[in-house]
Amino acid sequence: MNVIITGASKGIGKAIADKFAADGNTIVACARNEVDLYKMMEELQTKYPTCLVRPRKVDMSSMAEVKEFGKWILDHNLVPDILVNNAGQFYPGSVHSEEEGFLEKTIEVNLYSAYHLTRALLPAMMAAQKGHIFNMCSIASLQAYANGGSYSISKFALLGFSKNLREEMKPYGIKVTAVCPGATMSASWEGADIDPKRIMEANDIAEMVYAASKLSPMAVVEDIILRPQLGDL
Ligand SMILES: NC(=O)c1ccc[n+]([C@@H]2O[C@H](COP(=O)([O-])OP(=O)(O)OC[C@H]3O[C@@H](n4cnc5c(N)ncnc54)[C@H](OP(=O)(O)O)[C@@H]3O)[C@@H](O)[C@H]2O)c1
Repeated sequence: MNVIITGASKGIGKAIADKFAADGNTIVACARNEVDLYKMMEELQTKYPTCLVRPRKVDMSSMAEVKEFGKWILDHNLVPDILVNNAGQFYPGSVHSEEEGFLEKTIEVNLYSAYHLTRALLPAMMAAQKGHIFNMCSIASLQAYANGGSYSISKFALLGFSKNLREEMKPYGIKVTAVCPGATMSASWEGADIDPKRIMEANDIAEMVYAASKLSPMAVVEDIILRPQLGDL
């Protein structure tokens, strides 16, 4: 299978790459930092010699780079069986005090990234009449909270994107799943003074994505909602 994962060099994206690499799949992994990407590739290919990792440096907040990435995937005959729109960034903020342009910057990386890559790949997936798209939303897609600001707005929008896509793709045999995790240990939490027992592991999210990808063509998991056992932080 071809598994395309954006933002796959760290955190949740890397955990998902690890899970699918273990089965010997081809993983197309993108991120901005090439050093981290190649490190991840070497790690996975050593751990799972039957997998193939195709790393690609892409800034997913740039529409031009995203479109080029989509074209590269199709030119290399890597029509996705699974597409995980995971790249995203967490910035705390508040509508009343965020600096000008903060919403635009956040929407570019958290929403337009998924929108433009999906649009680039959909014609080939629709022709194949199969595939599964996972959109990495958040608990912040479901629930407003103080200091949510533009991040939460962008994640509500990504959930809206996911739900619309789900309706559109029903007749094409393409599954769409919105993944809404709560706090998960990753680079996003670096420096925060958090008890690792209080938040989820990136692998918890990967396990659920993997399980949802294993259902028969007749069933789709529309939403995955995960929270730390002790609840939201
Ligand atoms: N961790 C949580 O608590 C949590 C909870 C709910 C939802 N999420 C969502 O889960 C996703 C992954 O989060 P994470 O916590 O695993 O993040 P992370 O550990 O910070 O990793 C983010 C990954 O995305 C890449 N990335 C970031 N900006 C990018 C860009 N503009 N273009 C391409 N790649 C980019 C990073 O690599 P480079 O920096 O090299 O580009 C890295 O590989 C995000 O969408 C996040 O909003 C996270």
